[in-house]
Amino acid sequence: MRVILFSSQTYDRDSFLGEPLPAGLELQFQPARLNLDTVALAEHHEVVCAFINDDLSAPVLEQLAAGGTRLIALRSAGYNHVDLPTAKRLGLGLGLTIVRVPAYSPHAVAEHAVALILALNRRLHRAYNRTRDGDFSLHGLTGFDLVGKTVGVVGTGQIGATFAKIMAGFGCQLLAYDPFPNPQVLALGARYVSLPELVAQAQIISLHCPLTADSKHLINARSLARMQRGAMLINTGRGGLVDTPALIDALKDGQLGYLGLDVYEEEAQLFFEDRSDLPLQDDVLARLLTFPNVIITAHQAFLTREALAAIAGTTLSNIAAWAKGQPQNLVEG
Ligand code: NAI
Repeated sequence: MRVILFSSQTYDRDSFLGEPLPAGLELQFQPARLNLDTVALAEHHEVVCAFINDDLSAPVLEQLAAGGTRLIALRSAGYNHVDLPTAKRLGLGLGLTIVRVPAYSPHAVAEHAVALILALNRRLHRAYNRTRDGDFSLHGLTGFDLVGKTVGVVGTGQIGATFAKIMAGFGCQLLAYDPFPNPQVLALGARYVSLPELVAQAQIISLHCPLTADSKHLINARSLARMQRGAMLINTGRGGLVDTPALIDALKDGQLGYLGLDVYEEEAQLFFEDRSDLPLQDDVLARLLTFPNVIITAHQAFLTREALAAIAGTTLSNIAAWAKGQPQNLVEG
């Protein structure tokens, strides 16, 4: 059975080839992103393996199904990039199935969110550059103690709960917002409150919910205005959770004191590629990168050895289970 892995990087190849390969699978690693221009590469591949910035919109799904693809194995937990109504229609008509990796390492993402908090607070990005340049001054590097600060966790599933546990270890007070309170997070002493209350009371707010129609631009000009002056916002969830131009306005007037982003609404055209020789065409991202109190990483929160091994292992097991007629980890269209 032929499997094509779109958007595959060297670390994907290494992690997939490091796992036992189920009998009968032939893997083809394709660095190109899946979209309307590249979908022809998937022809005659029964299985397409896609990552978060691959295009799984209606026209691409239709072409995949017409070209003989019967399984789309997502190498991600999130599936906000899949056109679900089309997937459902093609599932009923042509038997197209979509599976995902519901959990790999919540620690990878939670620990990256904490890394952003610590780096922003203690201005490690500035200190690193300064000392390398022979500047050993400390002005502008003053941080704050985390102990006793109020941290707001938006979305307390696997990653949010892991993040909450780490922040409880720093001695922070926890506020949480999630339609489904998590007993593990309550056991840490967290208080579930409304989103406006969380936004108004937390000094650090970290987003760990999926991107859905309900959560799009959950952080916007109104919620930014409600925050404590100088608050810190961390987004390792999805770019669309925040209204990026509103973040720029809040950074410009000092309302937002620190911003750590691992995801960006328009990241699909940019992230995972070396574009250092090219002029940056995205003016919003370019403006964000000018602030000294902003750190942006290019969707790397998942990137640990453990998470990559778990993604590869679960994806291969998803494909093998589907081939046996016992599909698991289905994305229901
Ligand atoms: P999960 O499904 O375990 O938890 C998500 C939680 O969010 C659930 O408790 C759910 O009730 C809650 N939720 C749903 N809608 C909400 C809303 N509007 N407001 C507040 N809470 C809401 O998912 P998990 O594994 O914790 O992942 C969370 C998100 O993290 C994923 O959906 C994905 O977008 C993102 N992610 C980012 C990665 C990265 O590399 N930056 C890697 C993996 C996931």
